Amino acid sequence: MARWNIPECQWSDELLTHNESIDAQHRELVKRMGQCIASLNAPHEFSFEEELEILDLVVFLLDYVIAHFSHEERIMIESDFPDFLSHRIAHSYYITRLVEFKNRFKQEGFNEGLAEVFHREIVEWLVNHIKYDDRRIASWSQSGVAHKPSPRHL
Ligand SMILES: [Fe+2]
Repeated sequence: MARWNIPECQWSDELLTHNESIDAQHRELVKRMGQCIASLNAPHEFSFEEELEILDLVVFLLDYVIAHFSHEERIMIESDFPDFLSHRIAHSYYITRLVEFKNRFKQEGFNEGLAEVFHREIVEWLVNHIKYDDRRIASWSQSGVAHKPSPRHL
């Protein structure tokens, strides 16, 4: 019996944006979040080595998310995506949450409060962001009006 029961996170085609590179990176993110959850749900107190392994998973997730967000931001810039700024602010918000999670994990060890934070602020937030916000980038950049010149290009 797991101590925390963080709900699983699995890929589903509901998350497809139909941009090949973005989808490939999202699949990797979902897989890595799933690995974190599986480790965090272990039914015993973590040993020092296990805490380090989980921290490594979280650090990998953080590095991957930063690279992924900058990939999406490049696509948004290249296609003159109209909501670039608010999307970028959302990315910064998420990175801050993930850094806070990592720091609290290091300071406090894992606990029920952090299990809730991981589920709500790290997993659910990203899944909803993919479903509702990232799909808009992909459809905009592939819609044929993606390269409509903005006034600064005229
Ligand atoms: Fe995004």
